[in-house]
Amino acid sequence: MGCQYFAPCEHGSGSFTIQIPKVTFGRGCLQEAGARAASHGMSCVALFTDPFLKDGPYVDTVVKSLKLAGIDVAIFSEIRIEADDASVERGARFLVDGQMNCKFDGVVSVGGGSVIDTAKAAMLYALYPVGDFLDYFAPPIGAGKPMSGPLLPHLACPTTSGTGSECTSISVIRITELDTKFVIASPVMLASEALIDPTCCDSLPSNIVASTGFDLLSHAIECYTAKAYTQWAKIEDPTKRPLIQGANPWSDLAATKALEIAGEYLVRGVNDASDHEARDQLMWGASLAGMAFGNSGTHLPHAMSYGVTHLMREITTSDYPVQAPFIPHGISVIVSAPAIFRYAAEGAPERHLEAAASLKADMQGAGLDDAGEVVGGCLIDLMKQTSMPNGLTDLGFSADDVKSLAASSARQARAIKNTPRETNLQDIENIYTAALRYY
Ligand SMILES: [Fe+2]
Repeated sequence: MGCQYFAPCEHGSGSFTIQIPKVTFGRGCLQEAGARAASHGMSCVALFTDPFLKDGPYVDTVVKSLKLAGIDVAIFSEIRIEADDASVERGARFLVDGQMNCKFDGVVSVGGGSVIDTAKAAMLYALYPVGDFLDYFAPPIGAGKPMSGPLLPHLACPTTSGTGSECTSISVIRITELDTKFVIASPVMLASEALIDPTCCDSLPSNIVASTGFDLLSHAIECYTAKAYTQWAKIEDPTKRPLIQGANPWSDLAATKALEIAGEYLVRGVNDASDHEARDQLMWGASLAGMAFGNSGTHLPHAMSYGVTHLMREITTSDYPVQAPFIPHGISVIVSAPAIFRYAAEGAPERHLEAAASLKADMQGAGLDDAGEVVGGCLIDLMKQTSMPNGLTDLGFSADDVKSLAASSARQARAIKNTPRETNLQDIENIYTAALRYY
């Protein structure tokens, strides 16, 4: 890869910016919620969660801890899995007028990515309302309106090991009118603190550990193989540097460790719920991968996942209590990933080989020309061992869907530009075709 770190291309960016929240990690640390919320001056908290977690032990632990610290709590749980604009608007209304006898001065989110993403976006729309919901989304679908001020203090408590949302400034929301997901991103959306208690993953069904685990794996490998920050154009106003800024020394550091964790513990964590070591490691890996991709951006696997969840038909995934059509985010990402890396490796073969080595792939003296096959083969092997779908055909797609899938995903413009190869619509169609079935 030319123009690598600390040696910018002509007109390329000469610097990169890192943002992560304060992070606390450990079994039982949800009990710290009250003290941590109080340290941010919270006295009246809106607790965001989903309908499945609302009456469960994690929310109970957090509520008790908040109350013990003298903090009033009201629970908002009307959040759809794969959060949508309606969930965000309900959450924003709750923050504005769903209160008890106090005015909310903080938010605590307890849940997976959908819950944390909804909490971030609901605060934005409650505090800084706009005429059109899409105003904060980037072109071509939105107006790219900048966010004008800080949100409330936010304590983010993930209950799955994949999203990394507790460590990112990103919120992914399904836009009902367009029937697909888009990203809102701004430094103001970063949580104040992440409270990561791997106890939450002890009872997760295996399909959820698999889907979220492949999400974390893909976050890590995408940021490690992304275009280098030095290859993105220099920007005039450094405060407007996009979060998709390309691979950099920080994202490499966190992504490499996350890949090592995924390579060693993903299969174990999926196939044995009693393997606490594996599940704890995956929880840590998910947060590391969040700290990485939240400061580099992802590329084609995430961009192309949006076409899959846009056009999915009568399908659900076992272990997910969600009505059809539903494909979990991690599965929508990983299903095309082997074909994507077989294509993308040509743009940065060394980086792909390094990523494969971190995953403990079978290298067998592989050279640069083998990089795509090494990564693709390693992913397929992991997918087989965790009973993932064998390509898009297993998700109900056929060759007839390829053009529509590509047209839908092509709207994720900046993520596609973060790919280490110049990629056009025809390339995306070719990749989807190659991802229909693997073996
Ligand atoms: Fe993701």
